[in-house]
Amino acid sequence: MTRSQLYPLEVNPTTGEPFFRLPAPNENIIITPPRLSDELCFAPIINHPNVSVWLEGPPIPYLDEYALPWLNFIKGRTDAVLAELREEEERNPEGPLKIVGDCPVRHLREVLEDGSDIYIGDLGINRAQLEEVLDKEERAKQVEENNAKEIGDPTIRWTFGDYLAPSHHRRGIMSAAMKLVLEKWAVPRMGVRFMTGYTFAGNRASARVFEKSGFVFKRTLDSGKVVRGELKLLDYLEWTYPESEL
Ligand SMILES: CC(C)(COP(=O)(O)OP(=O)(O)OC[C@H]1O[C@@H](n2cnc3c(N)ncnc32)[C@H](O)[C@@H]1OP(=O)(O)O)[C@@H](O)C(=O)NCCC(=O)NCCS
Repeated sequence: MTRSQLYPLEVNPTTGEPFFRLPAPNENIIITPPRLSDELCFAPIINHPNVSVWLEGPPIPYLDEYALPWLNFIKGRTDAVLAELREEEERNPEGPLKIVGDCPVRHLREVLEDGSDIYIGDLGINRAQLEEVLDKEERAKQVEENNAKEIGDPTIRWTFGDYLAPSHHRRGIMSAAMKLVLEKWAVPRMGVRFMTGYTFAGNRASARVFEKSGFVFKRTLDSGKVVRGELKLLDYLEWTYPESEL
């Protein structure tokens, strides 16, 4: 039997939505594509001080009006991958699993007893911003080169960005989610072979999440980065695909 191009994602039989389910003891947590109904779920989590203090990207305070453009952007990406996989399945039903440029699932949700679910966080995989290249011009050049590499190129430098609702911190959820996405999608379905991780120095939780997926701390970077008026050092980690599995 040939495998669906969504393999190894599962598909919700009622909604048709693809998803990953975390292993025990977090099997009530799933990772799905973004949904338009997520729009008002971001601000309460991102604005929580235990989350916002460690984030560089989103403007803080995070306003609801920022959510729709962001949602359209990430949903555009996941929709495009899903459409590409659907098309490949129709065009070449007996063909091998296609290597794609993104992961179709990223939003973490807790499934409640009644079957409904609530949004609890985000885990995105992106081409890296190469913070470890301290010279600005050199970095811009390398970022451009990295972004221009063809999907499946093993030399692409990737990274993860993530956050989780404080109500769900310290239950092993993000560690399990990152490991799952890395091993079940990024490596086999995107051809990811090299990843970088960046955290503000002192963000032990985030560094540990990376380490538990096999990332190794390399050094602390002082690039003069200023976030919300404060100078930030970055801890830099790397992950390389284990040679023994090549
Ligand atoms: C980073 C984050 C996603 C981790 O999610 P999580 O599901 O709570 O993490 P886990 O439960 O999988 O814990 C991972 C490890 O970090 C440790 N940890 C978790 N929270 C911690 C904290 N506040 N301080 C120190 N260690 C912490 C855990 O003990 C665990 O390590 P261990 O297995 O060695 O005991 C979450 O803390 C968060 O949303 N932080 C704010 C946003 C953020 O930092 N994003 C990343 C930006 S680079």
